[in-house]
Amino acid sequence: MSRSQWGSKLGFILASAGSAVGLGAIWKFPYVTATNGGGAFLLIFLAITFTMGFALLLAEFAIGRAVASGAVGAFRALGNRRWSAIGYIGVLCCFLILSFYSVVGGWTIGYLVRALDGRVMTSDSQALGSLFGSYVGNPVEPLITHGIFALLTLLVVMSGVQKGIERAGKVLMPGLFILMLVLIARSLTLPHAIDGVMAFFAPDFTKVNPGMLVDAMGLAFFHLSVGAGCMLAYGSYLDRQTSLTQVGAWVTGLSTVTAVLAGLMIFPAVVSFGLNPAAGPGLTYMTMPVVFTRLPFGQLFAVAFFALLLLAALMSAVSLLEQLVVLPIDEWKLPRKPVTVGVTLLIFLMGIPASLSFGPWASYTFHGKTVFQLMDYASSNVLLPLGGIGTALFAGWKIWPLMAGELALPRAIEPALKWTYRVAAPCLIALIMLYNL
Ligand code: PHE
Repeated sequence: MSRSQWGSKLGFILASAGSAVGLGAIWKFPYVTATNGGGAFLLIFLAITFTMGFALLLAEFAIGRAVASGAVGAFRALGNRRWSAIGYIGVLCCFLILSFYSVVGGWTIGYLVRALDGRVMTSDSQALGSLFGSYVGNPVEPLITHGIFALLTLLVVMSGVQKGIERAGKVLMPGLFILMLVLIARSLTLPHAIDGVMAFFAPDFTKVNPGMLVDAMGLAFFHLSVGAGCMLAYGSYLDRQTSLTQVGAWVTGLSTVTAVLAGLMIFPAVVSFGLNPAAGPGLTYMTMPVVFTRLPFGQLFAVAFFALLLLAALMSAVSLLEQLVVLPIDEWKLPRKPVTVGVTLLIFLMGIPASLSFGPWASYTFHGKTVFQLMDYASSNVLLPLGGIGTALFAGWKIWPLMAGELALPRAIEPALKWTYRVAAPCLIALIMLYNL
């Protein structure tokens, strides 16, 4: 069966940027940066994003386009059975990520409802804390929103990957940027906003520690969607004319700009209202309402914000689910619809403990981590980096001539990239992981 391709280069950029830009930039980046103390963490995160992250993104696009198949099939076709283990790591990783991603994606639905009925419109930090706590801690409602989010993802994926996504991307990206700029303008004009900006940007290198390096790397890979084969699967739909470096630069740029904008939106508000920067996964949800209440037509902004966040999260979830269903479809020739339904059901089940770990199961911990934290840590800080090491080694040692051809680089920088894949990236990732142990 020949693969359908993206409607245009813009369509592809929007779709892959849609995979990258999501909860990673707007939900995860602000709280992980805040818990790691701001500035210095931001610098390390940016450095990793624009070096290893970008290189891995290019490798995934190139491998996917070269073979036009899912990750497992691609590594096997270009390498051999053993290399296909990298594809399986990616699939496992996507499975874990999507399970908790759907829970947090569900929160955007819960908050959209609370924006519509006006419950989020308060700037009392205690009220915002309990609004979040009582929702995510409830044993039932977050499971319902998790189910709805999973169902929406299912519907998009079942209709075939490119149609809906391209169209959604054309609304999402401009909408999100305009909205964020307005919210930032308000956030930056709150009293003492400058202290928040300083906390976000001013690096304090005395705070650097091994755990922070792993967090920065995991977050960089997570926000670019690299290391799990999702971008590889997207690249497999890409036509031959498109320049991979150009598309890769756009995707890296768009998603990183979104993350930095999210920081500028949240840090000043946190400081200005004396909210708790170490609030953890609730940070974005607990902070944004204070900005909405300070805007004319604030409720409208609240609704737009959570609606766009939901759309962004959905587009990322679609890339995760697509990667999961491609395996049984391509490898075992199973029909698309039942596979998609079956996988979504599994995702829903796996998400239940993640969701409950904010409520009734909060006390079940392993090495001090709840189920949710374990799933997040195992996928972002262990499996994505492992997938990254595998992908880099594969690109550098196994298929370098093909990579060079796909990327069509100027001769002068080819060796640098080759040795980045062969040695620099794998060693650095491994060092950061080992250092943390
Ligand atoms: N990059 C997505 C986000 O930031 C999450 C994601 C990770 C998607 C890994 C696919 C693969 O929301």
